[in-house]
Amino acid sequence: MDVYGLIGNPVEHSLSPPMHEAGYEALGIDARYVTFEPEADAAAAAVAGAADLGVAGLNVTVPFKRDVLDAVDAAPLADRIGAVNTIDFGPVRAGDHPRGHNTDAAGVKRAFSHHGVALEGRDAVVVGAGGAGRAAAFALADAGAAVHVANRTAERAVDLAEAVPGATGGGLGDLGDRVAGADVLVNATSVGMDEPEATPVPAAHLHGDLAVLDAVYAPIETRLLREAADAGATTVDGAWMLLFQGVEAFEIWTGREAPVDAMNAALRAELK
Ligand code: ATR
Repeated sequence: MDVYGLIGNPVEHSLSPPMHEAGYEALGIDARYVTFEPEADAAAAAVAGAADLGVAGLNVTVPFKRDVLDAVDAAPLADRIGAVNTIDFGPVRAGDHPRGHNTDAAGVKRAFSHHGVALEGRDAVVVGAGGAGRAAAFALADAGAAVHVANRTAERAVDLAEAVPGATGGGLGDLGDRVAGADVLVNATSVGMDEPEATPVPAAHLHGDLAVLDAVYAPIETRLLREAADAGATTVDGAWMLLFQGVEAFEIWTGREAPVDAMNAALRAELK
């Protein structure tokens, strides 16, 4: 039996175990997916310990995505993003670090492509410059979009944009004009999560030529997505991003095409 897992703190409400185990079941893979909560400074030690125990793969979530960088051999995109959310332990040669990936970026790309949204040559606005914003900005640029990062703290957006090829960054002051001229919008802030009536982009700026991904998945239909749908936009809820980061990790680990429908059904059942 193979053991996969998630390290983070807290992880008790994680949706990844049922999502991944539905994938193993659908493909007849003998594996389990469990959660671990290392102490604040113990993420790198946990990665080394997992390798010693023969764990096959780990996901990494808040607050450890940067902490594990020193314990892995980061793939180029993960290295540029500066965060790892998926560690592949095999095959590791003696003395080597396991491979570290960032499948949050793939999650953004695949969530859009699953909905028929092309990114190449498109104008994209990412609201937010935290971990989710970083992954989204690099993912969209990697897919050939021209990216503008808008963030409440403008300096963080400017710093992020400097690292992302061709990107620009700034505050929220001209967000409306940016969105009015954009093809793609990603909400990578937590706005809309704790206060469901809050929205990062006023409805007046949304339009029918927009594809909108909201990284927030609780609630599943945020005010942003509701108003985007009313404006005629294509909407992609945050569960798709969560699903496809998991699908990408599943495929890296198992080398097989993930059973997307089974994993999606398990995830949506948990979210109900
Ligand atoms: P994550 O890793 O999930 O992205 P984070 O690093 O805490 O989390 O980033 C949260 C993002 O949401 C940031 O872009 C934050 O803006 P600041 O950089 O200015 O803090 C943004 N955010 C959180 N609450 C917000 C609010 N009420 N209005 C606008 N942006 C908000």
